[in-house]
Parts: sequence; C-alpha cells; structure tokens
Amino acid sequence: MINAIKARRSVRTYDARTVSDQLRQQLLADVSYDNPFGIPVEFRFLNAKEHGLVCPVVTGTELYVGGKIQKDPSACAAFGYSFEQFVLRAQDLGLGTVWLGGTMNRAAYEKAMELAEDEMMPCASPLGYPAQKMSVRENMMRKAIKADKRLPFESLFFDGDASTPLSREKADNLAVPLEMVRLAPSAVNKQPWRVIVKDGTTQFYCKRSKGMGGGDLDMQMIDMGIALCHFALAARECGLDAEFLQNDPGLAEDMEYVASYRVQ
Ligand SMILES: Cc1cc2nc3c(=O)[nH]c(=O)nc-3n(C[C@H](O)[C@H](O)[C@H](O)COP(=O)(O)O)c2cc1C
Repeated sequence: MINAIKARRSVRTYDARTVSDQLRQQLLADVSYDNPFGIPVEFRFLNAKEHGLVCPVVTGTELYVGGKIQKDPSACAAFGYSFEQFVLRAQDLGLGTVWLGGTMNRAAYEKAMELAEDEMMPCASPLGYPAQKMSVRENMMRKAIKADKRLPFESLFFDGDASTPLSREKADNLAVPLEMVRLAPSAVNKQPWRVIVKDGTTQFYCKRSKGMGGGDLDMQMIDMGIALCHFALAARECGLDAEFLQNDPGLAEDMEYVASYRVQ
C-alpha cells in the first residue's frame, strides 16, 4: 500500500469510461475495510443521475461511492480509517477518487444512502478513470489549497514532547510510516495530524484549524482516521508490529488526543 499512498492524489476530472461490474465487485468483495475502532462502514455505489447527486468540482463520471456508519463519538475517525482503505484499493486498481465532505448536495447523497436515524454518511467519493488533463476548475482549486504541498516532517512529528521536532534520522524505523502519514489527504489540506513519539509509542493528536472544530460531521477527525490508516498499513508493510491503543498520555494540552500505536 506504500506505493498506492505515494501515487494517490485527489481526482476530480474523469475520462467518462465506465467502471465495469467486475471491477466494482473486486472493490467490495472479499475485502473488509475494517478499522481499529470496531465500527463497521457500509459502502454503496451510487449513480448521480438516478439519485440527483451534484458535485460541482467533479466532471466525467456518474459513479459515486458513499459510506455510512453508526453514530458514535469515534465514528468520524473510524470512517476515515475504513474509507481510506477503499480509496487506496481503488488506486491500486487504477481508479481515481476524491474525498467529498463539503462540495456536494449532501442531502441527496444522504437520501441515496438510506440512512437510519442512528447512522451518518460522513463523506462520499466519485469513482472512475482519471482524465489525462485536469479541468481548469480542478487546477485552480489545487493551487488555491496548495494541494501538492505538505508541512515539513519536523513540523508534524515530535520527539518525546509536543515541542521537540523529530528528524527523519531520529525517527529511524518509524520514518517511513510517519512519511506516509505526511502524504495523507486532509480536508482543505489542513493536515491536522501531529504525532509525538515516546518510548516506542506513536501518540496521534489533532491540532485543530480555526473554524474546523468538532460537531457530528467532524472533518478533522476523519483526517485523523486517514492518518492512522496510513501509519498502520505502512508499518505493517515495513515489517513492524503496531498495536493500536487509546490511552491519552497527556503529552499535549492544546491538542486533542485520538489514539496511539505501540510499535515493535
Ligand atoms: C475529510 C475530507 C474531506 C474533503 N472534502 C472535499 C470536498 O468536499 N471537495 C473537494 O473537492 N475535495 C475535498 N477533499 C480533498 C482535499 O482537498 C485534498 O485531499 C487535499 O487538498 C490534498 O490533495 P490530494 O488529495 O490531491 O493530496 C477532502 C479531503 C478529506 C480528507
């Protein structure tokens, strides 16, 4: 999955080729996109025409995939973890995706997902083959949110406490899994993930951006779930044993603790 993480970018311009039934099957059959929070996500393919789905930034595909999950304090992080696994598998199969949380007629997507009272649909994504050339709108959007840039390694990852930057050299066998966190997609590319490494354990915190705080549809907690997913998949691929736990070590007062991985 490290290759998929490196190759992925948001795709908003598609080339109109349809995704075969066989490929759709392959995306959902025999794969459980589970997450360490233990809250299952149900995926559904949706047709834009049939359900009146509108996403003004996407062109060239009618196919979308939505995910729904039981409401829970950990639902957004759990959803981020599971849906990102889907995104990376789609990438591996040559398909493009883009996380959609805002630029869509959300009510139509939620209706199409047939949400029960206790369920939510945090995000959806179009699905299709990336076009050779991005639309003018997509190009402008990427420039405006600096979508190709990420914060430096030393601004995201810390050594023992929340104020000592961690270098790649010092990160040692954690350098690759942490670099994969750094490459993760995030809402408006705000990159809220911060990781403090202490005694072989990576503590994941959320550093909130102004105006993006909490609520039921918590985009930055979805970002945290995506980061945990990248870390765990990359750690496994690097032959590390990463054990998930939730136990706030209280290392940072101005950030929200989410979860940790004890790595061996
Ligand atoms: C939780 C979440 C919500 C997002 N919502 C939208 C959205 O509503 N519309 C959109 O065009 N992109 C959306 N994005 C995509 C981000 O803008 C994109 O991931 C980021 O700019 C980094 O670019 P990249 O994915 O090409 O690396 C979202 C991403 C995440 C993780």
